[in-house]
Amino acid sequence: MHRPLTKALAAQTAGLILVYALSRNGILPNMALVWLACLQGALAAIVSMLLLAPCWWGAIHLAFMPAIILASLLQQPVAVYVCGFFLLLLTYWTSFRTQVPLFLSNHVTVHRLAAWLSDNKPQKVLDVGSGTGSFALRLARLRPDWSVTGIESAPAPYALSRWLGRQTPNLCLLRADFWEHSLSGYDVVYAFLSPVPMPALWAKALREMRPGSLLISNSFTIENARDVEILRIDDRRATHLFVYRIPEIKRK
Ligand SMILES: C[S@@+](CC[C@H](N)C(=O)[O-])C[C@H]1O[C@@H](n2cnc3c(N)ncnc32)[C@H](O)[C@@H]1O
Repeated sequence: MHRPLTKALAAQTAGLILVYALSRNGILPNMALVWLACLQGALAAIVSMLLLAPCWWGAIHLAFMPAIILASLLQQPVAVYVCGFFLLLLTYWTSFRTQVPLFLSNHVTVHRLAAWLSDNKPQKVLDVGSGTGSFALRLARLRPDWSVTGIESAPAPYALSRWLGRQTPNLCLLRADFWEHSLSGYDVVYAFLSPVPMPALWAKALREMRPGSLLISNSFTIENARDVEILRIDDRRATHLFVYRIPEIKRK
């Protein structure tokens, strides 16, 4: 069982079945529904660990069922939950498949990278997965002489970035899947994604980018790529930027 969503479903179901079996057989004392939900969450978190899911799934399992029970106690109109669901859907879109959630580059990182890149004199910069434009928009404003492109698949962050960047002529934002977009023609490709897509992104960069151009990954290394330069950013999360230069002789 490899897919994270399948593991999550299996863990939640196992938690439910175990709690049902325990109370059916009189092993559990009479408990309020919210405590049963907490027990279900704890059991689901244990099953998730046994299935070798990443450890942060444990926190989600612990909170999931208690949150549903507490939300039902609040007795809000159904429309509140429907709106919440659609807002999350439009924001996170295919995160369950791509395993790339939305989090944003901070301004210290963008300023530091813009200063560092000035020596390389890039003409064209691409942000793969541009979110709300935290990186692409800031960079385009900092360097009006560079052409900055951002590609984002999730509708809500994309719409927000379009609105925020409406008066930035050197910024081009596309709502698309970056895997379908050629990386050739860019001097710098910036990625702030997750560990999951990095090997495939490196393979794509090797196929499409010209030698000497740069693939820069915020926080996530590429295991099979050598010759990495590391920029340490002096921000609160001590960001590391991993700079990979596309070699003359391309090896995967
Ligand atoms: C961690 S956020 C980074 C946002 C922005 N680059 C920044 O640094 O602030 C990653 C974004 O990539 C988007 N994304 C993931 N896979 C994508 C794909 N295949 N095509 C386009 N966008 C994608 C996600 O929707 C998410 O908004």
